[in-house]
Amino acid sequence: MNIGITNQKGGVGKTAIAQNLSAALSRKNKKTLLVDFDPQASLTKSILGRDFQISETDGYVRNFYNDKEVSPINVYPNLDFIGCDGMLAGVADRGIEAIWGLQEGLSSMSANYDYILIDSLPSMGSLFLAVLKACDRVIIPVVPEFQVLNGLKDFFDTVEKAKARKINENIQIAGIIFSMVESHKRKMQNTIMDELKNDLNGMIWETKIYNRVSISEAPGLRQNVFEYEPGGIAADFFTALAEEFIRKMEESK
Ligand SMILES: Nc1ncnc2c1ncn2[C@@H]1O[C@H](COP(=O)(O)OP(=O)(O)OP(=O)(O)O)[C@@H](O)[C@H]1O
Ligand SMILES: [Mg+2]
Repeated sequence: MNIGITNQKGGVGKTAIAQNLSAALSRKNKKTLLVDFDPQASLTKSILGRDFQISETDGYVRNFYNDKEVSPINVYPNLDFIGCDGMLAGVADRGIEAIWGLQEGLSSMSANYDYILIDSLPSMGSLFLAVLKACDRVIIPVVPEFQVLNGLKDFFDTVEKAKARKINENIQIAGIIFSMVESHKRKMQNTIMDELKNDLNGMIWETKIYNRVSISEAPGLRQNVFEYEPGGIAADFFTALAEEFIRKMEESK
């Protein structure tokens, strides 16, 4: 099953969730492939380091568009990775091919994995449509702030259009994860989270990812939260998220 971590809004924790949720899933013996599909390449830098030349490996997502072999890089037991760099941005100009390439490239790999997680870019352009084309489900990290519902409505609209125009008729929104929740803004954020729960009946997942320094510091050391602070609170968030993820994915099959 292919799952996109998506939101056209930037800086909402998509990459942090992609990295740590995939680590949590692999620790639960789920064979997982993690794909960086954002030309900012933050996930690739977090996993392989800033100086790694991804273009020189076979685990380079852009090779899907160059008719070259792509072989995922094994990074942990049960966790493989396909990375990118800024050159992925150029793929956006390739029209129809830009939208189809990711799905075509991943199709031969699906059978090897329980889950393929795709870290999406903050945009609604053709690279985002490629993610919608390639995914069975999308999950949406959302920071509980004022006005967030307007942006979400635009997002839902785009997914509906992608369905109606047959880019992907089967795609489903698996749900919304509250991300970067701050305990010192509890009153305001609780109000917003309650309102969203009312407005988006049943879409909000139980697990919340709170703001933790460890989540922002770990990537700089090329670590996930399980390595950075074993047994820490952040690790608990992502273990809980992986359990809810597995449950929801099984239910929706
Ligand atoms: N739960 C969290 N607690 C603390 N810091 C976080 C948390 N989630 C993400 N961050 C930090 O916030 C910043 C933005 O997060 P991240 O890169 O995951 O967002 P994004 O949605 O992927 O952004 P973009 O849209 O630019 O790809 C990063 O520096 C990240 O380390
Ligand atoms: Mg990101």
